This record gives sequence, structure tokens and C-alpha cells, in this order.
Amino acid sequence: MNWKRLFSELRDWPGGPRRHARLTPELRARIQSSFDEAAGDEEHFPSTIDPRIYHVQLIRNHLGDLRGKRVLDDGCGKGRFARVLKEQEPDSEIWGLDISEEMLRFVPERIHTRAGSMTELPFEDGFFDAAYATESLEHAVEIEKAVSELCRVVKRGGRIAIIDKNAEQWGKLKTPEWEQWFTRKGLERMLRRHCRQVSSRYISYWEDVKPDGLFLAWLAVK
Ligand SMILES: C[S@@+](CC[C@H](N)C(=O)[O-])C[C@H]1O[C@@H](n2cnc3c(N)ncnc32)[C@H](O)[C@@H]1O
Repeated sequence: MNWKRLFSELRDWPGGPRRHARLTPELRARIQSSFDEAAGDEEHFPSTIDPRIYHVQLIRNHLGDLRGKRVLDDGCGKGRFARVLKEQEPDSEIWGLDISEEMLRFVPERIHTRAGSMTELPFEDGFFDAAYATESLEHAVEIEKAVSELCRVVKRGGRIAIIDKNAEQWGKLKTPEWEQWFTRKGLERMLRRHCRQVSSRYISYWEDVKPDGLFLAWLAVK
């Protein structure tokens, strides 16, 4: 037993009751079918996003110049973020990965898509110049594995952004039984195992509105 590692895993553990330790084939199928069904709900799972929303701007700013760059949207859903990046930088190669093929049907054709799990990305090491995940890591169940995979597929020096919910606000929204939220320090530590620069901050939808503490952004350079 590696006590040091066990202690660090417990300390890093995200908020919310952790009902599932593993993404078993049964749980994976349940999550997939839940999102396949949710794909028909355009109100709660929109296929577009206002590019002025700070979440979009932060990702755009952190990833930098995307001309000629290959970028992964990890757990892309209908590709609302990927769509904006491609529109703003047509000379980029954007990929969207999601567990739900029904969600992927909404992703515009000019974006490459792959069905798969964030915990087992079907890409070779360093395939991407940059990657981001917005409100998807919270569904990945095996969080450390998903973070490790996200970092693995980005090349050295590449940029990574994660936007997700703050564990300290757990209970504020209705959540499926597999969902987990994260503490700033917990996810920072996971990212630090793979990346040399890591920071986090509270964000809101609009740059000039004070964050209410629900959303956090983690920014890293591998
Ligand atoms: C709340 S939606 C967010 C979608 C998108 N990132 C956005 O911001 O519009 C969560 C997405 O994560 C996907 N997802 C859940 N578990 C996943 C996994 N293990 N691997 C890949 N995608 C997953 C779902 O299918 C869903 O599309």
C-alpha cells in the first residue's frame, strides 16, 4: 500500500458524494444513454453559445493563436465551444470527443468528431496543440484518469483549460448520481502531476459580473 499516494488522493478528492469509484461498462452505458436522451433537450443542452460569454473568451485567450493548430474539445457535447473557435479561426483543426453519439450529431461538419470516453482518449500522445473541457469532467467518474488523458494527448508546451463547478457549492443544482464537482486545489494538484504551470480562478458568465463561486476555471501549460 502506497500511503503517501492514498493520502494525496483522499486530499484531492472532488466534492460531492462519490458514489462510483469506477466507470464500469454498466455505468458508462447509463451515462451514455442519459446524454443520448438529453441531446433532444436544446434548452438545457444548447448547440450554440454567445461568443461574448466569458467562458468562451477565457478559453480563447488561454489557448492563444489557433492558426494551424489542432485542438481537442473533450466532452464536447453538441460542440457549442468548438463551433465558436472554428468560426473565429477557420485555419484551425478542431476535434470534438464525446461519449454520446446523439450529442455529436449536432456538431458542425467542419469539426472532426470522435465517440469515446474522456478516460480513454482514442488519440496518440501529444496529438493536440491544445485541449479544453467545459462542464464535462464532472461526468467522467474516474477523474484522475480523465485529467491524465487530457494532458497526455497535448504536446509539451501545449495549453489546457478546464471549466467546471466548484465543490464548495455542491447541492446548489440537481445532479445525476455520478456527477462530481472540484475544489480549486484538488484539480490543481491533479493537473500539476502532468503540467508545469497551473492556476485556477472563479469565473462568471460575463467579465464585468462578480463570480458567484459556482464556476471555476483551471488553466495549465504542459
Ligand atoms: C453538460 S454536457 C457539456 C457539453 C459541452 N462541453 C458544453 O459545454 O456544451 C457534458 C457532456 O459530457 C459528455 N460526457 C459524459 N461523460 C463522458 C465521458 N466519460 N467521456 C466523454 N464525454 C462524456 C456528455 O455526453 C455530455 O455531452
